[in-house]
Amino acid sequence: MSSHFTIQIEGLQKRYGDRTVLDVESLSLESGFSYALVGPNGSGKSTLIRMLSGVEATTAGRLGVKGDATRESLAVGYMPQKSYVFGFSVFRNVALALEGSARARGEVEARVREALEAVGMAGMADNRGSGLSGGEAQRVALARMLVQDLDVLLLDEPTASMDIAGTMLVEEALRAYRERTGCLVLTATHAPSQARRISERAVMLSAGRVVEHGPTDAVLTNPSSDAGREFLSYWAV
Ligand SMILES: Nc1ncnc2c1ncn2[C@@H]1O[C@H](COP(=O)(O)OP(=O)(O)OP(=O)(O)O)[C@@H](O)[C@H]1O
Ligand SMILES: [Mg+2]
Repeated sequence: MSSHFTIQIEGLQKRYGDRTVLDVESLSLESGFSYALVGPNGSGKSTLIRMLSGVEATTAGRLGVKGDATRESLAVGYMPQKSYVFGFSVFRNVALALEGSARARGEVEARVREALEAVGMAGMADNRGSGLSGGEAQRVALARMLVQDLDVLLLDEPTASMDIAGTMLVEEALRAYRERTGCLVLTATHAPSQARRISERAVMLSAGRVVEHGPTDAVLTNPSSDAGREFLSYWAV
């Protein structure tokens, strides 16, 4: 289970051709906290999350882990912005995440049922993944995360396709998961109201740079940058 560690980002850059889409000079993410990652379309949220997950190579800079863990020892879960669901059953779509672990079949089954219950999909365990709605697919993709024991959970707009009841339900599931595991969570979201509900700290990106970083309330109510004020001017928080 989670030990104390800090993910340290230094001089991290991502370039596509001659365009720099991410340029993070310095940012630390500390175990035990939930972070909201906010910022407008194209500001680099998904790029940063993909780099943290390891699926995207860095152009320059360093992503290190300090404390009682190493990058290799951390169990990292990544839920992409577009949820992927396989054609087979919802149950198997979630059980997939436990494949290769030495768990007994009964335990796998119990965990999968519990994760599906937590996201409100228990009644659809036998449905085929291919027939799911966008919001249902997102719930299944999230259950695939919650069924695991993770140290770091990276969620890219996990409720973007969900209705308000689904959003509240999975936010509660995330809270329970954090309480149980102590997992560090980083969630990209477009809704400051959601950021406030689910995180203690917030990071705001603008054009690939960190323009705000601190306690969520402070970032959302008293941004110090012009970009932060501009972004939040559209929201009544
Ligand atoms: N494979 C790629 N090739 C070229 N440009 C890319 C590629 N992937 C991302 N980009 C560009 O990088 C920038 C950052 O994209 P990213 O997906 O990280 O933004 P985002 O903050 O997640 O936006 P959104 O809120 O729309 O999800 C965008 O301008 C995007 O067009
Ligand atoms: Mg994105």
